[in-house]
Amino acid sequence: MDYPNLESKSAALYRRALNVLPDGNSRTTIALKPYPIYIESASGAEVLDVDGNSYLDFNNNYTSLLHGHCYEPIRQAVEAQITRATACSFTTEAEIELAELLCSRVDTFERIRFCNSGSEAVMNMLKASRAFTGRPKVAKIEGLYHGSYDFAEVSLKNTAEDREGSVPIPTAYSFGTPDSVLEEVIPLPFNEIDATEAIVKQHADELACIMIDLMPQTLSMNSPSPDYLAALTQLCKKYDILLACDEVISFRLSLAGGQGMFDLKPDISTLGKIIGGGFPVGAIAGRADVMSVFEPKDNQSARLPHGGTFNGNPITMVAGKAAMAAMDEQKFEQLNTAGDHLRSQVTQTLEKLGVAGQVCGRGSLFAVRFHNRPMRRFPDIVVREDESLFIEKLRHYLIGHGIWIGANMAGSLSTATTDVHIERFGQVLGEGIQACENFLPAA
Ligand SMILES: Cc1ncc(COP(=O)(O)O)c(C=O)c1O
Repeated sequence: MDYPNLESKSAALYRRALNVLPDGNSRTTIALKPYPIYIESASGAEVLDVDGNSYLDFNNNYTSLLHGHCYEPIRQAVEAQITRATACSFTTEAEIELAELLCSRVDTFERIRFCNSGSEAVMNMLKASRAFTGRPKVAKIEGLYHGSYDFAEVSLKNTAEDREGSVPIPTAYSFGTPDSVLEEVIPLPFNEIDATEAIVKQHADELACIMIDLMPQTLSMNSPSPDYLAALTQLCKKYDILLACDEVISFRLSLAGGQGMFDLKPDISTLGKIIGGGFPVGAIAGRADVMSVFEPKDNQSARLPHGGTFNGNPITMVAGKAAMAAMDEQKFEQLNTAGDHLRSQVTQTLEKLGVAGQVCGRGSLFAVRFHNRPMRRFPDIVVREDESLFIEKLRHYLIGHGIWIGANMAGSLSTATTDVHIERFGQVLGEGIQACENFLPAA
Protein backbone atom coordinates (compact mmCIF):
# COMPACT_ATOMS: atom_id res chain seq x y z
CA MET A 1 0.00 0.00 0.00
CA ASP A 2 0.97 3.65 -0.32
CA TYR A 3 0.06 6.40 2.03
CA PRO A 4 -1.65 8.68 1.12
CA ASN A 5 -4.10 7.13 -1.34
CA LEU A 6 -7.03 9.45 -1.99
CA GLU A 7 -9.04 6.55 -3.51
CA SER A 8 -8.92 4.58 -0.25
CA LYS A 9 -11.89 3.86 2.03
CA SER A 10 -10.12 5.74 4.81
CA ALA A 11 -9.91 8.86 2.63
CA ALA A 12 -13.63 8.55 1.80
CA LEU A 13 -14.56 8.12 5.47
CA TYR A 14 -12.56 11.22 6.32
CA ARG A 15 -14.43 13.27 3.71
CA ARG A 16 -17.68 12.07 5.30
CA ALA A 17 -16.43 12.82 8.83
CA LEU A 18 -15.61 16.40 7.92
CA ASN A 19 -19.35 17.10 7.56
CA VAL A 20 -19.98 16.46 11.24
CA LEU A 21 -16.67 16.52 13.15
CA PRO A 22 -14.27 19.49 13.21
CA ASP A 23 -11.13 18.22 11.46
CA GLY A 24 -12.96 14.90 11.11
CA ASN A 25 -12.20 13.57 14.58
CA SER A 26 -12.25 14.22 18.33
CA ARG A 27 -8.56 14.06 19.10
CA THR A 28 -5.92 16.55 17.90
CA THR A 29 -3.11 14.09 18.65
CA ILE A 30 -4.29 11.50 16.10
CA ALA A 31 -4.86 13.89 13.20
CA LEU A 32 -2.91 12.75 10.15
CA LYS A 33 -2.71 14.68 6.88
CA PRO A 34 -4.13 14.37 4.29
CA TYR A 35 -6.46 11.91 6.07
CA PRO A 36 -6.40 9.66 9.14
CA ILE A 37 -6.51 5.89 8.84
CA TYR A 38 -9.73 4.15 9.86
CA ILE A 39 -9.42 0.88 11.67
CA GLU A 40 -11.37 -2.32 11.13
CA SER A 41 -9.89 -4.45 13.91
CA ALA A 42 -6.78 -5.01 15.99
CA SER A 43 -5.21 -7.91 17.84
CA GLY A 44 -1.93 -8.15 19.77
CA ALA A 45 0.65 -5.96 18.03
CA GLU A 46 -1.25 -5.82 14.73
CA VAL A 47 -3.92 -3.49 13.42
CA LEU A 48 -6.03 -3.93 10.28
CA ASP A 49 -7.48 -0.89 8.51
CA VAL A 50 -10.73 -0.63 6.52
CA ASP A 51 -8.78 -0.99 3.25
CA GLY A 52 -7.30 -4.31 4.34
CA ASN A 53 -3.82 -2.96 5.14
CA SER A 54 -2.13 -4.22 8.28
CA TYR A 55 0.26 -2.38 10.56
CA LEU A 56 2.60 -3.31 13.38
CA ASP A 57 1.59 -0.97 16.16
CA PHE A 58 4.54 0.85 17.75
CA ASN A 59 2.30 3.54 19.20
CA ASN A 60 -0.05 1.42 21.33
CA ASN A 61 -2.60 4.20 21.64
CA TYR A 62 0.03 6.66 22.77
CA THR A 63 1.59 4.23 25.26
CA SER A 64 -1.65 3.17 26.96
CA LEU A 65 -1.82 -0.45 25.74
CA LEU A 66 0.59 -2.46 27.82
CA HIS A 67 -0.48 -5.74 26.21
CA GLY A 68 -1.35 -4.58 22.71
CA HIS A 69 -4.89 -4.96 21.39
CA CYS A 70 -7.69 -7.25 22.58
CA TYR A 71 -5.62 -8.92 25.29
CA GLU A 72 -7.51 -12.05 26.31
CA PRO A 73 -7.53 -11.55 30.15
CA ILE A 74 -8.85 -7.98 29.66
CA ARG A 75 -11.49 -9.17 27.21
CA GLN A 76 -12.67 -11.82 29.65
CA ALA A 77 -12.75 -9.43 32.62
CA VAL A 78 -14.71 -6.81 30.67
CA GLU A 79 -17.12 -9.38 29.23
CA ALA A 80 -17.85 -10.71 32.71
CA GLN A 81 -18.37 -7.21 34.13
CA ILE A 82 -20.52 -6.01 31.26
CA THR A 83 -23.19 -8.55 32.13
CA ARG A 84 -23.20 -7.39 35.77
CA ALA A 85 -23.05 -3.56 35.72
CA THR A 86 -21.31 -0.99 33.55
CA ALA A 87 -21.97 2.40 35.16
CA CYS A 88 -23.90 3.08 38.30
CA SER A 89 -24.21 5.67 41.05
CA PHE A 90 -22.94 3.10 43.55
CA THR A 91 -19.40 2.05 44.34
CA THR A 92 -17.99 -1.37 43.47
CA GLU A 93 -15.43 -3.73 44.93
CA ALA A 94 -13.60 -3.55 41.59
CA GLU A 95 -12.50 0.01 42.44
CA ILE A 96 -11.03 -1.11 45.77
CA GLU A 97 -9.23 -3.99 44.07
CA LEU A 98 -7.45 -1.80 41.51
CA ALA A 99 -6.64 0.76 44.22
CA GLU A 100 -5.20 -1.97 46.47
CA LEU A 101 -3.10 -3.38 43.66
CA LEU A 102 -1.59 0.01 42.74
CA CYS A 103 -1.03 1.12 46.34
CA SER A 104 0.69 -2.17 47.15
CA ARG A 105 3.27 -1.52 44.41
CA VAL A 106 4.28 2.09 45.06
CA ASP A 107 5.17 3.24 48.55
CA THR A 108 4.26 6.91 47.93
CA PHE A 109 0.71 5.82 47.00
CA GLU A 110 -0.97 5.85 50.40
CA ARG A 111 -4.32 6.84 48.89
CA ILE A 112 -5.57 6.92 45.31
CA ARG A 113 -8.56 8.47 43.55
CA PHE A 114 -9.79 7.61 40.07
CA CYS A 115 -11.00 9.83 37.22
CA ASN A 116 -11.37 9.38 33.46
CA SER A 117 -8.26 10.74 31.77
CA GLY A 118 -4.71 11.82 32.36
CA SER A 119 -5.76 15.43 31.75
CA GLU A 120 -8.32 15.23 34.56
CA ALA A 121 -5.73 13.60 36.80
CA VAL A 122 -3.26 16.44 36.17
CA MET A 123 -5.97 19.05 36.74
CA ASN A 124 -6.87 17.44 40.04
CA MET A 125 -3.24 17.02 41.09
CA LEU A 126 -2.67 20.77 40.59
CA LYS A 127 -5.94 21.63 42.35
CA ALA A 128 -5.11 19.26 45.22
CA SER A 129 -1.68 20.90 45.59
CA ARG A 130 -3.30 24.33 45.80
CA ALA A 131 -5.97 23.07 48.23
CA PHE A 132 -3.38 21.40 50.47
CA THR A 133 -0.86 24.24 50.60
CA GLY A 134 -3.24 27.19 50.24
CA ARG A 135 -0.83 28.62 47.63
CA PRO A 136 -2.01 29.79 44.19
CA LYS A 137 0.85 29.05 41.77
CA VAL A 138 2.27 25.91 40.19
CA ALA A 139 5.60 25.34 38.48
CA LYS A 140 6.18 23.06 35.51
CA ILE A 141 8.98 22.37 33.05
CA GLU A 142 8.93 24.33 29.77
CA GLY A 143 7.81 22.37 26.73
CA LEU A 144 6.24 19.48 28.63
CA TYR A 145 2.85 18.05 27.69
CA HIS A 146 0.55 17.23 30.61
CA GLY A 147 -2.85 17.04 28.87
CA SER A 148 -5.48 19.66 28.17
CA TYR A 149 -6.03 21.60 31.44
CA ASP A 150 -5.13 25.19 30.53
CA PHE A 151 -2.80 25.64 33.54
CA ALA A 152 -0.96 22.47 32.52
CA GLU A 153 -0.65 23.70 28.94
CA VAL A 154 1.34 26.83 29.79
CA SER A 155 4.65 26.98 27.87
CA LEU A 156 3.88 23.70 26.08
CA LYS A 157 4.69 25.24 22.73
CA ASN A 158 7.70 27.25 23.87
CA THR A 159 10.56 27.41 21.42
CA ALA A 160 14.23 27.97 22.20
CA GLU A 161 13.53 31.70 21.69
CA ASP A 162 10.80 31.92 24.37
CA ARG A 163 13.27 32.76 27.09
CA GLU A 164 14.79 35.75 28.82
CA GLY A 165 18.32 34.51 29.48
CA SER A 166 17.73 31.14 31.11
CA VAL A 167 14.21 32.02 32.25
CA PRO A 168 11.42 30.47 30.15
CA ILE A 169 8.48 32.73 29.35
CA PRO A 170 4.95 31.56 30.20
CA THR A 171 3.08 31.28 26.90
CA ALA A 172 -0.48 30.20 26.11
CA TYR A 173 -1.15 27.05 24.09
CA SER A 174 -4.68 27.79 22.94
CA PHE A 175 -6.29 31.03 21.86
CA GLY A 176 -8.42 32.59 24.56
CA THR A 177 -6.31 31.41 27.50
CA PRO A 178 -6.77 34.18 30.08
CA ASP A 179 -3.66 36.17 31.00
CA SER A 180 -4.42 35.31 34.62
CA VAL A 181 -3.54 31.66 33.87
CA LEU A 182 -0.11 32.71 32.61
CA GLU A 183 0.44 34.62 35.84
CA GLU A 184 -0.20 31.51 37.95
CA VAL A 185 2.13 29.08 36.17
CA ILE A 186 5.91 29.33 36.48
CA PRO A 187 7.83 27.51 33.73
CA LEU A 188 11.23 26.10 34.70
CA PRO A 189 14.22 25.41 32.41
CA PHE A 190 14.72 21.66 31.97
CA ASN A 191 17.91 20.34 33.60
CA GLU A 192 19.27 23.86 34.31
CA ILE A 193 19.80 23.76 38.03
CA ASP A 194 21.07 27.26 38.86
CA ALA A 195 18.36 29.03 36.87
CA THR A 196 15.66 26.73 38.32
CA GLU A 197 16.83 27.41 41.86
CA ALA A 198 16.71 31.16 41.29
CA ILE A 199 13.20 31.04 39.77
CA VAL A 200 11.79 28.79 42.50
CA LYS A 201 13.35 30.97 45.22
CA GLN A 202 11.72 34.04 43.72
CA HIS A 203 8.22 32.46 43.79
CA ALA A 204 8.69 30.11 46.76
CA ASP A 205 5.96 31.55 49.04
CA GLU A 206 3.33 31.27 46.32
CA LEU A 207 4.20 27.87 44.86
CA ALA A 208 1.90 24.93 45.63
CA CYS A 209 3.84 22.36 43.63
CA ILE A 210 6.55 21.66 41.10
CA MET A 211 5.23 19.26 38.46
CA ILE A 212 7.63 17.00 36.63
CA ASP A 213 7.52 14.10 34.19
CA LEU A 214 10.24 11.45 34.25
CA MET A 215 9.71 10.48 30.61
CA PRO A 216 8.56 13.60 28.76
CA GLN A 217 7.31 12.72 25.31
CA THR A 218 7.58 16.30 24.05
CA LEU A 219 11.24 16.35 25.10
CA SER A 220 11.92 13.31 22.92
CA MET A 221 11.64 10.89 25.86
CA ASN A 222 14.63 12.41 27.65
CA SER A 223 14.44 11.95 31.39
CA PRO A 224 15.49 14.75 33.74
CA SER A 225 19.07 14.21 34.89
CA PRO A 226 19.56 12.71 38.39
CA ASP A 227 21.23 15.93 39.61
CA TYR A 228 18.25 17.98 38.40
CA LEU A 229 15.80 15.65 40.15
CA ALA A 230 17.86 15.88 43.33
CA ALA A 231 17.83 19.69 43.08
CA LEU A 232 14.04 19.77 42.60
CA THR A 233 13.55 17.45 45.58
CA GLN A 234 15.75 19.70 47.73
CA LEU A 235 13.93 22.84 46.62
CA CYS A 236 10.55 21.29 47.45
CA LYS A 237 11.77 20.31 50.93
CA LYS A 238 13.37 23.67 51.59
CA TYR A 239 10.31 25.73 50.64
CA ASP A 240 7.48 23.31 51.59
CA ILE A 241 6.43 22.91 47.98
CA LEU A 242 4.83 19.64 46.88
CA LEU A 243 6.78 17.50 44.44
CA ALA A 244 4.13 16.46 41.90
CA CYS A 245 5.03 13.70 39.45
CA ASP A 246 2.99 13.17 36.28
CA GLU A 247 3.30 9.41 35.73
CA VAL A 248 0.64 9.18 33.01
CA ILE A 249 3.31 7.81 30.64
CA SER A 250 6.28 7.01 32.87
CA PHE A 251 4.30 4.54 34.98
CA ARG A 252 5.03 1.91 32.33
CA LEU A 253 8.75 1.98 33.24
CA SER A 254 8.58 -0.49 36.14
CA LEU A 255 6.33 -2.15 38.69
CA ALA A 256 6.62 1.04 40.78
CA GLY A 257 6.57 3.30 37.73
CA GLY A 258 9.09 6.00 36.86
CA GLN A 259 9.44 6.92 40.52
CA GLY A 260 10.48 3.34 41.27
CA MET A 261 13.08 3.42 38.52
CA PHE A 262 14.45 6.85 39.55
CA ASP A 263 14.04 6.30 43.30
CA LEU A 264 11.99 9.50 43.58
CA LYS A 265 9.51 10.15 46.40
CA PRO A 266 6.88 12.58 45.10
CA ASP A 267 4.20 13.87 47.45
CA ILE A 268 1.53 13.40 44.84
CA SER A 269 1.40 11.70 41.42
CA THR A 270 -0.88 11.22 38.47
CA LEU A 271 -1.59 8.02 36.58
CA GLY A 272 -3.53 7.25 33.42
CA LYS A 273 -3.15 5.22 30.23
CA ILE A 274 -1.88 1.72 31.18
CA ILE A 275 -3.81 1.48 34.47
CA GLY A 276 -7.13 1.41 32.55
CA GLY A 277 -6.33 -1.66 30.45
CA GLY A 278 -7.32 0.23 27.27
CA PHE A 279 -10.34 2.04 28.76
CA PRO A 280 -10.60 5.74 29.71
CA VAL A 281 -8.83 6.34 33.01
CA GLY A 282 -6.87 8.70 35.21
CA ALA A 283 -5.87 8.71 38.86
CA ILE A 284 -4.32 10.90 41.50
CA ALA A 285 -2.26 9.11 44.14
CA GLY A 286 -0.09 10.24 47.00
CA ARG A 287 0.55 10.85 50.66
CA ALA A 288 -2.52 10.31 52.85
CA ASP A 289 -2.40 13.84 54.32
CA VAL A 290 -2.19 15.43 50.86
CA MET A 291 -4.93 13.19 49.49
CA SER A 292 -7.14 14.10 52.47
CA VAL A 293 -8.14 17.24 50.52
CA PHE A 294 -10.67 14.95 48.82
CA GLU A 295 -12.26 13.97 52.17
CA PRO A 296 -15.10 15.88 53.82
CA LYS A 297 -14.28 16.61 57.46
CA ASP A 298 -16.30 17.72 60.48
CA ASN A 299 -19.50 17.99 58.47
CA GLN A 300 -17.77 20.37 56.06
CA SER A 301 -17.40 19.60 52.37
CA ALA A 302 -14.01 18.44 51.17
CA ARG A 303 -11.35 21.10 50.50
CA LEU A 304 -11.36 19.72 46.97
CA PRO A 305 -14.75 18.30 46.02
CA HIS A 306 -14.28 15.96 43.07
CA GLY A 307 -17.24 14.56 41.18
CA GLY A 308 -17.24 12.62 37.93
CA THR A 309 -20.10 10.56 36.52
CA PHE A 310 -17.77 7.82 35.31
CA ASN A 311 -15.02 8.02 37.97
CA GLY A 312 -14.04 4.53 39.08
CA ASN A 313 -16.46 2.93 36.61
CA PRO A 314 -16.39 -0.86 36.93
CA ILE A 315 -15.48 -1.60 33.30
CA THR A 316 -12.29 0.45 33.54
CA MET A 317 -11.55 -0.94 36.99
CA VAL A 318 -11.71 -4.60 35.96
CA ALA A 319 -9.84 -3.96 32.71
CA GLY A 320 -7.15 -2.02 34.57
CA LYS A 321 -6.80 -4.74 37.15
CA ALA A 322 -6.44 -7.43 34.46
CA ALA A 323 -3.78 -5.38 32.66
CA MET A 324 -1.77 -4.52 35.75
CA ALA A 325 -2.11 -7.89 37.50
CA ALA A 326 -0.57 -9.55 34.43
CA MET A 327 2.64 -7.60 35.10
CA ASP A 328 5.25 -8.42 37.70
CA GLU A 329 8.88 -7.37 38.00
CA GLN A 330 10.01 -10.01 35.55
CA LYS A 331 7.40 -9.00 32.95
CA PHE A 332 8.48 -5.36 33.17
CA GLU A 333 12.07 -6.47 32.77
CA GLN A 334 11.17 -8.46 29.64
CA LEU A 335 9.27 -5.50 28.20
CA ASN A 336 12.17 -3.16 28.95
CA THR A 337 14.63 -5.60 27.36
CA ALA A 338 12.51 -5.49 24.21
CA GLY A 339 12.93 -1.69 24.37
CA ASP A 340 16.73 -2.12 24.54
CA HIS A 341 16.52 -4.42 21.52
CA LEU A 342 14.59 -1.80 19.55
CA ARG A 343 17.02 0.96 20.51
CA SER A 344 19.98 -1.14 19.42
CA GLN A 345 18.26 -1.98 16.09
CA VAL A 346 17.69 1.73 15.42
CA THR A 347 21.26 2.65 16.38
CA GLN A 348 22.65 -0.06 14.08
CA THR A 349 20.42 1.16 11.24
CA LEU A 350 21.59 4.76 11.66
CA GLU A 351 25.23 3.71 11.88
CA LYS A 352 24.99 1.46 8.83
CA LEU A 353 23.53 4.30 6.78
CA GLY A 354 25.96 6.86 8.19
CA VAL A 355 23.06 9.16 9.03
CA ALA A 356 23.18 11.65 11.90
CA GLY A 357 20.71 10.51 14.50
CA GLN A 358 20.03 8.93 17.86
CA VAL A 359 17.38 6.98 19.66
CA CYS A 360 16.25 8.31 23.04
CA GLY A 361 14.10 6.77 25.75
CA ARG A 362 14.27 3.92 28.20
CA GLY A 363 12.25 0.88 29.13
CA SER A 364 9.55 0.29 26.55
CA LEU A 365 9.51 3.94 25.41
CA PHE A 366 11.58 5.41 22.60
CA ALA A 367 11.93 8.36 20.22
CA VAL A 368 14.09 8.59 17.09
CA ARG A 369 15.79 11.89 16.31
CA PHE A 370 17.86 12.91 13.31
CA HIS A 371 20.71 14.95 14.79
CA ASN A 372 23.61 14.31 17.14
CA ARG A 373 23.10 17.23 19.52
CA PRO A 374 23.47 16.44 23.21
CA MET A 375 20.00 16.17 24.77
CA ARG A 376 20.39 17.91 28.11
CA ARG A 377 18.98 21.44 27.69
CA PHE A 378 15.60 22.34 26.23
CA PRO A 379 17.00 24.55 23.42
CA ASP A 380 19.04 21.56 22.15
CA ILE A 381 16.18 19.08 22.47
CA VAL A 382 13.54 21.08 20.59
CA VAL A 383 12.92 19.45 17.19
CA ARG A 384 13.90 21.89 14.41
CA GLU A 385 11.75 22.62 11.38
CA ASP A 386 13.87 20.65 8.88
CA GLU A 387 14.01 17.70 11.30
CA SER A 388 10.26 17.86 11.68
CA LEU A 389 9.72 17.83 7.90
CA PHE A 390 11.99 14.79 7.53
CA ILE A 391 10.14 13.00 10.33
CA GLU A 392 6.81 13.66 8.59
CA LYS A 393 8.07 12.25 5.25
CA LEU A 394 9.62 9.25 6.99
CA ARG A 395 6.46 8.60 9.00
CA HIS A 396 4.39 8.50 5.81
CA TYR A 397 6.86 5.97 4.40
CA LEU A 398 6.61 3.83 7.54
CA ILE A 399 2.81 3.94 7.50
CA GLY A 400 2.84 3.01 3.82
CA HIS A 401 5.02 0.02 4.72
CA GLY A 402 3.01 -1.29 7.63
CA ILE A 403 4.64 0.42 10.62
CA TRP A 404 2.42 2.55 12.84
CA ILE A 405 4.19 5.18 14.93
CA GLY A 406 3.21 8.53 16.48
CA ALA A 407 3.59 11.87 14.73
CA ASN A 408 6.70 12.81 16.70
CA MET A 409 8.48 9.55 15.84
CA ALA A 410 8.09 8.46 19.45
CA GLY A 411 6.70 5.08 20.34
CA SER A 412 6.17 2.33 22.82
CA LEU A 413 6.19 -1.45 22.87
CA SER A 414 3.72 -3.87 24.38
CA THR A 415 4.03 -7.40 25.73
CA ALA A 416 2.68 -8.47 22.31
CA THR A 417 5.69 -6.96 20.48
CA THR A 418 8.10 -9.71 19.37
CA ASP A 419 11.75 -9.65 18.29
CA VAL A 420 10.56 -10.25 14.73
CA HIS A 421 8.39 -7.09 14.93
CA ILE A 422 11.34 -5.10 16.27
CA GLU A 423 13.69 -6.32 13.55
CA ARG A 424 11.08 -5.45 10.94
CA PHE A 425 10.91 -1.96 12.46
CA GLY A 426 14.70 -1.53 12.08
CA GLN A 427 14.59 -2.78 8.49
CA VAL A 428 11.68 -0.56 7.35
CA LEU A 429 13.17 2.42 9.16
CA GLY A 430 16.42 1.95 7.22
CA GLU A 431 14.58 1.63 3.90
CA GLY A 432 12.50 4.69 4.77
CA ILE A 433 15.52 6.82 5.58
CA GLN A 434 17.02 5.92 2.21
CA ALA A 435 13.75 6.61 0.39
CA CYS A 436 13.45 10.05 2.05
CA GLU A 437 17.12 10.97 1.92
CA ASN A 438 16.42 14.15 -0.12
CA PHE A 439 14.70 15.50 2.98
CA LEU A 440 17.43 14.61 5.48
CA PRO A 441 18.07 17.61 7.73
CA ALA A 442 21.37 19.47 7.36
CA ALA A 443 23.85 18.18 9.94
C1 LIG B 1 2.55 13.07 30.62
C2 LIG B 1 1.11 13.17 30.26
N1 LIG B 1 0.24 13.71 31.12
C3 LIG B 1 -1.07 13.80 30.86
C4 LIG B 1 -1.58 13.37 29.66
C5 LIG B 1 -3.04 13.48 29.36
O1 LIG B 1 -3.65 12.24 29.38
P1 LIG B 1 -5.03 12.00 28.60
O2 LIG B 1 -4.72 12.02 27.14
O3 LIG B 1 -5.51 10.67 29.10
O4 LIG B 1 -5.94 13.11 29.00
C6 LIG B 1 -0.72 12.80 28.71
C7 LIG B 1 -1.24 12.30 27.42
O5 LIG B 1 -0.54 11.88 26.55
C8 LIG B 1 0.66 12.71 29.01
O6 LIG B 1 1.53 12.22 28.13
